[in-house]
Amino acid sequence: MTEFEALEKRISVRAYEKKPVPPEIVAELRETMEEANRAAGLHFQLVDTNTSQKPAVKLTPAMFSGEVYTCALLVGPEGEIGGEMVGYFSEKLILRAVALGLGTCWVAGTYDRKSVSPEIGEDEKLWGVIPMGFAAEKTPLLQRTIRSRIRAKDRRTEDFVESDFPYTSLPAWIRAGAEAVKAGPSAVNQQPVNIVYKDGLVTMRLWKEKKNEMMYNDLGIAKYQFQVGAENAGVRGFWNFGEDGEFITE
Ligand SMILES: Cc1cc2nc3c(=O)[nH]c(=O)nc-3n(C[C@H](O)[C@H](O)[C@H](O)COP(=O)(O)O)c2cc1C
Repeated sequence: MTEFEALEKRISVRAYEKKPVPPEIVAELRETMEEANRAAGLHFQLVDTNTSQKPAVKLTPAMFSGEVYTCALLVGPEGEIGGEMVGYFSEKLILRAVALGLGTCWVAGTYDRKSVSPEIGEDEKLWGVIPMGFAAEKTPLLQRTIRSRIRAKDRRTEDFVESDFPYTSLPAWIRAGAEAVKAGPSAVNQQPVNIVYKDGLVTMRLWKEKKNEMMYNDLGIAKYQFQVGAENAGVRGFWNFGEDGEFITE
């Protein structure tokens, strides 16, 4: 599965089989995670309890069912840029996991913090966790209801772009990027990110007046989603971090 196919397939999985992830897949996840740690000075950690078959994290039962034995602990620098970098590289890791056949969910709140014990350095914090496992073959009604209720307030794709041009006349790769941003995860599906296309430059900003820390995770996630969507439409590029950081095309 390509990264773009993984992007199209990804949803937040809240029902897991009690089935461990094979060691060779865990090794691939670890490699992607370590690459991110090296590239951005992050401190992501992968918990794998396959041998003991004890859950790698206790997820809140009202939101999740089943168990996972593999889980990424998203430790990274505190602050806005830290949150954005965690978001960007967490999404890269999520898409890798999906491409390898796994289900995942970004979880900032609905888990038992005491069930994980990450190493946390000075000026770092645990931003969230990503359970990784096999999605239940039959999605229970509760899980379907949670997702459809939360996704019901989706914004329209054209609302994600601020530009002097009408949405339909924007370059195809920017529209592809906007679709990818819309398809991505965001905390309580607030979709707080706008793509700004002005004077030939592409940037992103948080449009909500009231900002919270998780929105910086959402900003980083949206940047990664945009990049994968644009690349699938033929334009490769990379982002500068920071609100208003530019998308530099190659
Ligand atoms: C930063 C962040 C934090 C999140 N925290 C939680 C959480 O604590 N519990 C949960 O069930 N889902 C959580 N989610 C998942 C979102 O609810 C989900 O991405 C959103 O509703 C869109 O649905 P989808 O991912 O299925 O497309 C989080 C997502 C993000 C990006």
